[in-house]
Amino acid sequence: MDYLQISASAKLSGTLTVSGAKNAALPILAATILAKNPVSVSNLPHVADVRTFLRLIKLLGGEYSEPHGELSGRQLIDTRSLDNTTATYEIVKTMRASILTLGPLLARFRECRVSLPGGCAIGQRPVDLHLKALEKMGAIINITEGYIHATAPSGLSGATIVFDKITVTGSENLIMAAALAHGTTKILNAAKEPEVVSLCEIISAAGVEIRGIGTDELEIVGTGGELLELQPIRVIPDRIEAGTYLCAGAITQSEITLDHVEPKHLEAVIDKLTQMGFGFEITSDRITIKPAKRIAPIEIVTSEYPAFPTDMQAQFMALATQAEGSSIIEERLFENRFMHVGELVRMGAQIALRGNTASVTGRAALTGADVMATDLRASSALVLAGLAAKGTTRVHRIYHLDRGYEKIEAKLGALGANIVRLEE
Ligand code: EPZ
Repeated sequence: MDYLQISASAKLSGTLTVSGAKNAALPILAATILAKNPVSVSNLPHVADVRTFLRLIKLLGGEYSEPHGELSGRQLIDTRSLDNTTATYEIVKTMRASILTLGPLLARFRECRVSLPGGCAIGQRPVDLHLKALEKMGAIINITEGYIHATAPSGLSGATIVFDKITVTGSENLIMAAALAHGTTKILNAAKEPEVVSLCEIISAAGVEIRGIGTDELEIVGTGGELLELQPIRVIPDRIEAGTYLCAGAITQSEITLDHVEPKHLEAVIDKLTQMGFGFEITSDRITIKPAKRIAPIEIVTSEYPAFPTDMQAQFMALATQAEGSSIIEERLFENRFMHVGELVRMGAQIALRGNTASVTGRAALTGADVMATDLRASSALVLAGLAAKGTTRVHRIYHLDRGYEKIEAKLGALGANIVRLEE
């Protein structure tokens, strides 16, 4: 297994290119199941979850090719030959986002079996809201032997769906199911994340009428089973990768620039960094962060977009250890998303937990240590702490990191960080 070895890094400098968003790419790959044509998808990030989803499409009987070579980030995906409607436990257990095949497979084939994703490090993460909503559209759902067995003998029918909680992949599953349903579907309390908006725009570009894109109330006029002519797709920039690298600049008090980024997707993150004292220069697709005279402590409550994202909570926890004073971080979306706290404390951080609220006392002088990655974003927080710690930090089990960050050691290394990937 690989691990990352990070030594204290002086100032970083230079420009880093942000990759395509993993959490936009995965629903896009699922949406190719709805297509009547081969679909060109570009700016795909070279991360494990995208490779896994492509493998899943192949398992279902689809095809994909890289007409412009492996490094192009571009795939031509053809699901016309899809003949298998079972997403097996073997693949779902490695990538819970496989649940995104449920809506499209059911809408297209009127029957499918998808393994229940099960829990993960950050929480139980049920999919009950996905299932209840599909039943509202006429699906018959049975859970047997750990699998969701869904049927809709006469196809899915438009319905009014009210999500009890805002769910990103739940909204995406229902948007894809509604696209092929008979009649109109209203989705109330829908997620508004940029990745959800991007999926709506792609389905709308194929001729499906969608009203309310970007709001929490969507109205989708289904095609009645007719597959979609999907236009060429370019994956939007990864706002969480971008936010993570802004924190890398912040925690090392460096001036760095990100390009190929969408600043409006990062407003809550930039707002918090500004409150902490960091400066910014922002254009339409570039962000430059500048050091703070003094890093001020911060109060954060994670919530749904456009509020502060839960996927940036761990990274800000690492940064808050360097603030002059006490920061408060409340995690409202997941019940167990503080796995990074124990590891940061082992590096010298002063963090006290009470329920889903952490108080971080800074400034703490961090020292390098052997630490364990537990989930995708926690891993990135440990890398950030390693950049600011004295001595050497080794982050183990970085397969978590490789699920969502493309070439992190190359990108940080190019900015001057002392970071190498080694084998255990
Ligand atoms: C998506 O997960 C993201 N993953 C997550 O990113 C992100 O943390 C999360 O949204 C919140 O923004 C992808 O897009 C692939 P939810 P998702 O359904 O859709 C509860 C990363 O680091 N819930 O919005 O699974 C759930 O338990 C990953 O890239 C139900 O109770 O999250 C949670 O408390 C981690 N029942 C809350 O809703 C359901 O049926 C939000 O979950 C569905 C969700």
